[in-house]
Amino acid sequence: MNAIVAPATIDLRPATADDLPGIERLLAGAGLPSPGADAHPSLFVVGEGADGLVCAGGMERHGAFALLRSVVVADGARGLGLGKRVLARLLEQGRRLDITGFYLLTTAAVDYFKTAGFAVTTRSRVPLAVRQSSQFQGVCPDSAVVMSLCLDRGGQPN
Ligand SMILES: CC(C)(COP(=O)(O)OP(=O)(O)OC[C@H]1O[C@@H](n2cnc3c(N)ncnc32)[C@H](O)[C@@H]1OP(=O)(O)O)[C@@H](O)C(=O)NCCC(=O)NCCS
Repeated sequence: MNAIVAPATIDLRPATADDLPGIERLLAGAGLPSPGADAHPSLFVVGEGADGLVCAGGMERHGAFALLRSVVVADGARGLGLGKRVLARLLEQGRRLDITGFYLLTTAAVDYFKTAGFAVTTRSRVPLAVRQSSQFQGVCPDSAVVMSLCLDRGGQPN
């Protein structure tokens, strides 16, 4: 899909329910779980190329906290900055919604999120509401690394 992509021409926009099949295809292609019932399409961001979606990412809101999830870039479009743009858009969206801390689970992109300011944390330090999300309740493997980012203090949420 989209073997040649000019990232500057890809506009990011909020996802709609119609985008869910495309998001699921991207996630399946990367071996990530599908959005699931916890995920509201309007809190997902997508980027579309000529042949369909090339990137996506979402957040689930849990009170003042959010779970960052499903950040994915199509194989042929990686390494061009789209992942960083998706991440920046989701963090900006979180700030607008007064989210104070983001959490995520990842198996293969720990260093990627460290570069973006996330720090490795433990499950016991994750707010209960976030821990009750389906991603924490078995959708992601137990071996997934938990990471956090505080939006208001520049440090790690307690
Ligand atoms: C992780 C992912 C979203 C990155 O998107 P991307 O658009 O390819 O990345 P960007 O262009 O924004 O950034 C590229 C930089 O990140 C680095 N990078 C990319 N994927 C990485 C990973 N999994 N781990 C560590 N670093 C990674 C690249 O080496 C590059 O580094 P450089 O700037 O020093 O050259 C993409 O590789 C992907 O979809 N992976 C599979 C799904 C996944 O694991 N998602 C995260 C869990 S939710």
